[in-house]
Amino acid sequence: MAENAPAAFVQPASFAFDAASEAEIAMHVAKYPPGKQASAVLALLDVAQRQMGRTTGSAWVPIKAMDEIARVLAMPPIRVYEVATFYLMYNLAPIGKFHLQLCTTTPCWLRGSDEVVAACRDVTGLKGWKEISEDGLFTMTEVECVGACVNAPILQVNDDFYEDMDAEKTRALLEALKRGEIPTPGSMSGRQTSAPEGGPTTLTTLTFAKAE
Ligand code: FES
Repeated sequence: MAENAPAAFVQPASFAFDAASEAEIAMHVAKYPPGKQASAVLALLDVAQRQMGRTTGSAWVPIKAMDEIARVLAMPPIRVYEVATFYLMYNLAPIGKFHLQLCTTTPCWLRGSDEVVAACRDVTGLKGWKEISEDGLFTMTEVECVGACVNAPILQVNDDFYEDMDAEKTRALLEALKRGEIPTPGSMSGRQTSAPEGGPTTLTTLTFAKAE
């Protein structure tokens, strides 16, 4: 079970893929040769988690969904459990509508991830990781480098990266989410992609050599 999972939650008694998920599953399974369909297990866990998010507002993977994946891919359920419990991106317990994934690895830490974490705790009221806020909106998870260090510190909300964060920007982002707004992801400092602060310093003019 996930580390610091809510103390008590109910596993659904059943799980079935809906039509939208079935279409995605067919696409993923078709990528592999006959007899190798188990290779689609990562993708199907993601499909199950997204379906839960779409239909219940909480993106997680119940045990019954893992059992259904095992049936669809003709593999032992324990093999699905092994994969689901290994990777951090699968939530094995219910989460809030907005999954706040806080990178605290060295580059983000050096650039102020501690103040981003503190601001998230202030606004959400969450004390620990993997808990659900009282309003059901937020869950905080501490994650390792998400590969966007150039714009550290990073706060990932569901699939979106909010970059160049600080305490004030974090508070503003979470308050916007509470109001039902989804701010545009990317750099919150206004820099162009990952260009230096103040604007690009190279490739500022484009010249093309003429082919002879
Ligand atoms: S250390 Fe945070 S994105 Fe790499």
